[in-house]
Amino acid sequence: MTKILVTGALGQIGSELAEKLAQIYGSENVLITDIREPEQNHLDIPYQKLDVNDEQAIKDIVINNQITEVYHLAAMLSATAEKYPIQGWNLNTNSLLTFLELAKDKKLSKIFWPSSIAVFGRGAAADMTPQEEVTNPLSMYGVAKVAGEGFCEIYHQKYGVDVRSIRYPGLISWKTLPGGGTTDYAVDIYYKALEDKKYESFIGEGTALPMMYMDDAIRATIELMQAPKEDLTIHTAYNLQGITFTPEEIAAEIKKHISDFEISYAPDYRQAIADSWPNSIDDTQAQKDWNWKPEFDLDSMTVEMLKHLKSKLQINV
Ligand code: NAD
Ligand code: SER
Repeated sequence: MTKILVTGALGQIGSELAEKLAQIYGSENVLITDIREPEQNHLDIPYQKLDVNDEQAIKDIVINNQITEVYHLAAMLSATAEKYPIQGWNLNTNSLLTFLELAKDKKLSKIFWPSSIAVFGRGAAADMTPQEEVTNPLSMYGVAKVAGEGFCEIYHQKYGVDVRSIRYPGLISWKTLPGGGTTDYAVDIYYKALEDKKYESFIGEGTALPMMYMDDAIRATIELMQAPKEDLTIHTAYNLQGITFTPEEIAAEIKKHISDFEISYAPDYRQAIADSWPNSIDDTQAQKDWNWKPEFDLDSMTVEMLKHLKSKLQINV
């Protein structure tokens, strides 16, 4: 019997991933947790408060609920971690080790923990960054993700722990706002296009970044977790490519739907983080090992984002 724990479940990814997991495994077999209280548990999935900095609380919740699988999403994202590096490092590394130790002790059978394109930095190829590439991250967040990938590899090789990971690109979604990342501009822009018909981008013109629509990211996560263990060859984290675009390219796409939309630029401290990240990612290994294929491009994602946000914000344009 699969019993799933989701940490950071009220966040941008967790709120959508938990819903999908509940559809697949049944709400009674999913336990959502977060340091925050839900405003409303519209998903009708059992919730418990959990601060993943509390090692004993993690152990208790896993044992008391006979959890078998964990989707460990609680984290501090890149822009916030740049402001609070020590807290970011502690949150983004220690809790992963606690879950890996539980799996080593056979208290968990499978773990999903997300890495990020933020692992790549100085010296890494910017275009079609290969799976096996130097990392050298230039953000504290990226440093913690590289460490996390190392933990995953070691616990897999030494102790046989089944831990699976993806280097998510920047994720774009309409249901839950993103929580302090560098790629958040590509979500903000849709809200501002509908609300104000103008957007001041904190990422500068010409900055290409790897991005992905949330539906593709959720599907990738489920497909990776359901893939036969013996087919998986990457035990750090899989590269994953979705859509690459610059701020002016996403603006041009939005303009096709909102003709008087205008973008301007005021890059801030997040520009340096974005400049250190790849433009695009080579995900050949994910394609080979678990048949990964994205469905959304910039055009279809924009249609979906504007359609859903218009209805959510009750805006007619
Ligand atoms: P998010 O910021 O939207 O959500 C994180 C959640 O963790 C929040 O609900 C927050 O309340 C919770 N949290 C914070 N501190 C906690 C604590 N001490 N204990 C328990 N919960 C705590 O983040 P997200 O975008 O959903 O990201 C989830 C994971 O995916 C992270 O590991 C992130 O690094 C990774 N990732 C996200 C993206 C993206 O674009 N969203 C890209 C790459 C990787
Ligand atoms: N979207 C994430 C961020 O900007 C990438 O990991 O932090």
